[in-house]
Amino acid sequence: MCGIVGCIGKGNAVPFLIQGLEKLEYRGYDSSGIAIYSNGKIRVVKKQGHLKVIKEILKDNNDFCAGLGIGHTRWATHGNPTDINAHPHVSACGKIALVHNGIIENYIELKEELMKKGFLFKSDTDTEVIVQLMSSLYEGDIFQTVKNSIKKLQGSFALGIICADNPDTLIAVKKDSPLIIGTSENENYIASDIPALLSKTDTICRLQEKQIALINSEGFKLYDFEGNLSEKKLTVINWSIDAAEKNQYEHFMLKEIMEQPRAIKDTVYPRIEGKSLKLDNLNLSKEYLENLNKICIVACGSAYHVGCIAKYFMELLIRKPVEIDLASEFRYRSPIVDENTLVIIISQSGETADSLAALRESKRLGARVISIVNVVGSSIASESDYVLYTHAGPEIAVATTKAYSTQLALMYILALHIGKALNKISDEKYESIIEALKNLPENIEKILEGKEEIMSIAKNYYYYEKVFFIGRNVDYAVCMEGSLKLKEISYIHSEAYAAGELKHGTISLIDKNTLVIAIATQEKLMDKMISNVREVKARGAKILFLTTEKYYEKLKPISDHIVSIPQTYETVLPSLSVIPMQLMSYYTAKFRGCDIDKPRNLAKSVTVE
Ligand code: G6P
Repeated sequence: MCGIVGCIGKGNAVPFLIQGLEKLEYRGYDSSGIAIYSNGKIRVVKKQGHLKVIKEILKDNNDFCAGLGIGHTRWATHGNPTDINAHPHVSACGKIALVHNGIIENYIELKEELMKKGFLFKSDTDTEVIVQLMSSLYEGDIFQTVKNSIKKLQGSFALGIICADNPDTLIAVKKDSPLIIGTSENENYIASDIPALLSKTDTICRLQEKQIALINSEGFKLYDFEGNLSEKKLTVINWSIDAAEKNQYEHFMLKEIMEQPRAIKDTVYPRIEGKSLKLDNLNLSKEYLENLNKICIVACGSAYHVGCIAKYFMELLIRKPVEIDLASEFRYRSPIVDENTLVIIISQSGETADSLAALRESKRLGARVISIVNVVGSSIASESDYVLYTHAGPEIAVATTKAYSTQLALMYILALHIGKALNKISDEKYESIIEALKNLPENIEKILEGKEEIMSIAKNYYYYEKVFFIGRNVDYAVCMEGSLKLKEISYIHSEAYAAGELKHGTISLIDKNTLVIAIATQEKLMDKMISNVREVKARGAKILFLTTEKYYEKLKPISDHIVSIPQTYETVLPSLSVIPMQLMSYYTAKFRGCDIDKPRNLAKSVTVE
C-alpha cells in the first residue's frame, strides 16, 4: 500500500529515489512521483502510471538533481490514480512537500476546517490534507509544525517530509505504517521496506510506533510524538543485493518459485537437530499447553490459506481445537479468546494492518501470540510474545510463493513441537514427519525440473475463462491457494471448492468450457475424489489431475492431463502439491500476456484496512 523513499546527502539523491521506488513498486504502482529541494525551492515530478513514466521524464534531465528528496509509488485509496492525486503533495505556501503511506480517517473534517480558513485543495486525496494542515500551522519551525499537525491526525501514516526552509533535514514519521531509516557514510535514507535500501546499505533502524526522525547527511535523531528524544537501535540486515534482483529470470515470480528449495532449507534445517526439533525461543510450558482451550490462527490472503492447511494437521497432531480466521473478520467478530488461547499470526510482511490489529486484540484479551513472519523486526514480529522467522528472503512478486511455502513448513514444525510436548504424537510419526520436512527441498527440486510439462498443459487452457479447483481435506485447502494464484495474476475467474460440496450447487456451473483442476493426494479420500471427478467429467469439463506418483496410473485414464508429485509422508504433501499450482498460474498468466509481477489493482503489502 504505497511505497515511500527519501534521501539526504552530499551527492545527488535522485538516482537512489528512482531505484528505491523500483524496489517498492510491489506496494502499489498506479502512479509515482519525486520531490526535491533545489536552488531554494521544492520541485516535483509526478505522473499517473508505473514508475517507468517518471524514469522516462527524468532520463536526460541533468537539471533535476539535489541532495535532498522524497519519492512515492502509489496504490490509490482516496482519489483515482491521476497525475494530480499522485504524491508528493506540496503545501499552499510551496515550502513543504510530503509523501504518505496509510489512511487519514478524519480527513473530511480536517479538510472542511482548512477550507473554511481559505485553503484550496487540488487533489481528492487524504494526504493533501496533511500537507495543508502543516502549511496552516507553519511559523518557521518545521519540527514543531510536524508535531502539532500529527496530533490532529487519526488513522495510519508513514510520512516523508521536506521543507524548503530546512534543506539540511529530512523528516520521517511513523504511526501504524512501516518506515525504515538506512544509514551510510555521508548519506541517509528512508524507505517503506528493506529491498529499497539494499543497494546502499545493510544498516537500518526501524522506526517504532509514534516516532519522528530528524535526519541529516551525517546521522539522525529519533523523537516520540511529544518531542522527547528516543533511543535508536541499529540492525544489520543479511539479505544480499541479489535477492532483490531478477537476475536471469523474466519475472520475480518465477525466480521466487525456483528459490523455494533454498528458502525451505534455510527455514527448516536450522530448527532440526538429529531426529528432533529445536525451537529455543519458544518458551511454552507443558502446563500452559495442557491448559489451552484452543488455538486460533489468524492471517490474510495466502497466509490465511497456510492457516487453512495447518488447521487440519494441527488438530491431527495436537488434538486441540484449531480455529482459522481471516484477520479482517476476526478483529470485528468479538472472538472468544482468553489467557488459555494461543493465537498464531501468519504474515510475510509483518505489517498487514488487519493482522496487526488482530494481534493487538488477542493480546488485549489475554492470549499469548506467536507470529510466523518473514520480515525481521516488522511490527507484527516486534509486538508478538514469540516470533518464528521464515527465511524466504525478500519477496518482490505480488503473488506470494516462497513466503507461503516457508510459512507452511514452519507451521508443520510448530505443530510437531506442540504435539510432542503434549505427548500426542508417537516417536515414529514425529520422526517421519521431520524426515519428510528435511526431504522437502529435494522433492520440490524434482517438481520444478518438470516445469516445462506444466507450461505445456497451461498452453492448452490459458484462454479458458472458468477454472474450478476441487479437493478434499488438506487438498481442498491447497485448492484455495491454487485458485487465488490463478485469479491474482491471470484474471481468470476461478473457484476452489470442497469436492464433496460440488453437488450442493456449484456443479450447475460446470460445462464443456470449464477446466477442473482436481487435487487428490489423500489415500482415504481417493475413491471419493474419483467419483467427484467422474461427475464433472460427465458434464463436459476438462480434467487436470494432481496426484502423487503412487496414484498416477490409477488416475490417468480419467484425466485429460495429469501431474504427479513425489510420494512423501501424507501429512506433508500440501507443501509439494502447491508447487505445480504456482507454476500453472504463472504460465497461464504468461500466455495471456499479463503483468505477472504487478497484477492490476493489487499491492503486496496491505497496510490499510
Ligand atoms: C496481500 C499479498 C498476499 C499476502 C497477503 C497477506 O494480499 O498479495 O500475497 O498473502 O497480503 O500479507 P502478509 O504480508 O500479511 O503475509
